[in-house]
Amino acid sequence: MARCDSENRYPAEGLGWRPPDLTAIRFETERLVIRNYEFGDIETVYNAIVECRPHLKPWMGWAEKSHREIAETAQYISNQIMNTRNPDTWQNVGLGIFLKDGGAFVGATGVHDVRRDTASCETGYWIHVFHRGKGYATEACRACISWALRGQDNNGLGLRRVRIFCSKGNEASMRVIEKLGVRKEVEMVDDYWVDGVGLTTRMGWGVMAGEWDTQNHHAIAR
Ligand SMILES: CC(C)(COP(=O)(O)OP(=O)(O)OC[C@H]1O[C@@H](n2cnc3c(N)ncnc32)[C@H](O)[C@@H]1OP(=O)(O)O)[C@@H](O)C(=O)NCCC(=O)NCCS
Repeated sequence: MARCDSENRYPAEGLGWRPPDLTAIRFETERLVIRNYEFGDIETVYNAIVECRPHLKPWMGWAEKSHREIAETAQYISNQIMNTRNPDTWQNVGLGIFLKDGGAFVGATGVHDVRRDTASCETGYWIHVFHRGKGYATEACRACISWALRGQDNNGLGLRRVRIFCSKGNEASMRVIEKLGVRKEVEMVDDYWVDGVGLTTRMGWGVMAGEWDTQNHHAIAR
């Protein structure tokens, strides 16, 4: 009853953003191919999560309990495929990151919490422990932000705004965001519980379409 309107995540139409009509998502960077999952990826993605589980925790909350069986990964990938088929479920779209050279699966990114009223989304990333420290998260995230903010007439999502959240203490992720050069917006002190860490301060960054060069994948100097 006392809930503030600003906490209502899916109010009326607002800007009325609509997803593009596409079933195959694919974009490339210098070293990477970023694309939506296919059924043929199930085993690869499952094995990668199993190999990385201890290295995804504590920051990826799903890593402890999800993908304990390959059937769960199969269901996840099916859901991802169906999410882009139906405009009503176009809210969370996970994308795999693959090496251009050889095709190895190196991690994941995507858009989450896509909001039609504000034409905005969140993005995130994880990289396989064998492939960390080579700049892949930064490279993939740059391209993903460009894809989200590019117009739909230019193979993008035509969103206005991208959010990124990270817990203080996740030094590697904070460094990725620092390299992106996006604008820090919020710092919520002790607002987030991370299993194995405890109370953490949640920090949020934002980038608007006018603040990002979608051709060259970088923040426009402020
Ligand atoms: C965060 C993560 C995606 C980074 O992937 P990556 O491909 O290694 O990232 P990049 O190589 O693009 O950049 C990492 C940067 O962090 C730095 N870094 C790595 N570990 C660090 C640490 N413990 N403290 C400080 N900096 C660190 C690296 O040196 C690099 O910076 P540099 O280019 O200036 O040298 C990866 O560590 C991961 O998957 N972590 C678990 C999942 C996760 O936390 N996801 C983000 C949730 S918000």
